[in-house]
Amino acid sequence: MTRPEILTLAPLAADLTATLEATYAVHHLWRAPDRDALLAAIGPTIRAAATTGHVPCPPALLEALPNLGLLASFGVGYDAIDVGALAARGVAVTNTPEVLNDAVAEITIGMMIALARDILQADGHVREGRWPSGNYPLTSQLTGSRVGIIGLGRIGRRIAELCAGFRMEIAYHGRREQPDQPYRYYSDLVDMAHAVDWLVVIAPSTPQTVGIVSRRVLEALGSKGRLVNVARGNLVDEAALVDLLVSGRLGGAALDVFVNEPRVPEALFALKNVVLQPHQGSATKVTRRAMGDLVAKNIAAFFAGQPLLTPVTS
Ligand code: 8YV
Repeated sequence: MTRPEILTLAPLAADLTATLEATYAVHHLWRAPDRDALLAAIGPTIRAAATTGHVPCPPALLEALPNLGLLASFGVGYDAIDVGALAARGVAVTNTPEVLNDAVAEITIGMMIALARDILQADGHVREGRWPSGNYPLTSQLTGSRVGIIGLGRIGRRIAELCAGFRMEIAYHGRREQPDQPYRYYSDLVDMAHAVDWLVVIAPSTPQTVGIVSRRVLEALGSKGRLVNVARGNLVDEAALVDLLVSGRLGGAALDVFVNEPRVPEALFALKNVVLQPHQGSATKVTRRAMGDLVAKNIAAFFAGQPLLTPVTS
């Protein structure tokens, strides 16, 4: 019995690749010496493909895959994938939601504590032998402070739960109020930024949310306020962010995502009131395995003619 053929558009986690190669004839477009030759040879046989949320399936590639029925994406965010164009060609798209909520919420709180308590600088105070000549200065703290969450979705709600553990005052902003949520809703983001100490960005990147954290919002957050971005770099006006941090008009920032990853504005490197992470929100062994399992299960469901587990809608 010939094994179904699938295509990977981007390098995937090793364990996921091994799982797929154990069941399917897997063709890796991203490492093909001649992509066009590979597509000419196997394009019509491909019914399912796998990618990551950052690697799209552009129209030209779609043309070369006339029988594609599924694009399974590794990641919850799928901002690089034109779901509407794929749907118009009868191609379903799946992502990997829920399984990464805890890991992303964990890094969010971790970065907030690192920023509030100067964990990185205080670590340097010890390693560089400065402690014998004096204690590290007193810091701020997370407990009891006010947080505004942009995007009270699955991950946003998990972050709110953790913030509640620190007895923080929790508010949120999003497309609409969620009556089932016990937190204060702000329809106006500038108003919320004025009213909080922490502004956490955890909304999907869409045409409506790109640049939503504008210079005006950052100025409203102010010289005591701190921005936390664990969503996508392009939700924030990064040039304004750097300018306001360097000039002291914004109190601090904890950033896991950037506009041109993996390149990061160098002006941030010297700032003590900034925590930088290499987009590792979901980068734990258990979470990435769970994300891989979801990709594999969606592909298996597709070939079995079963309902997809986590389809995305345009
Ligand atoms: C992924 C992410 O690791 O899920 C997302 O949207 O940004 C990360 O969890 C990344 O997309 C790699 O695929």
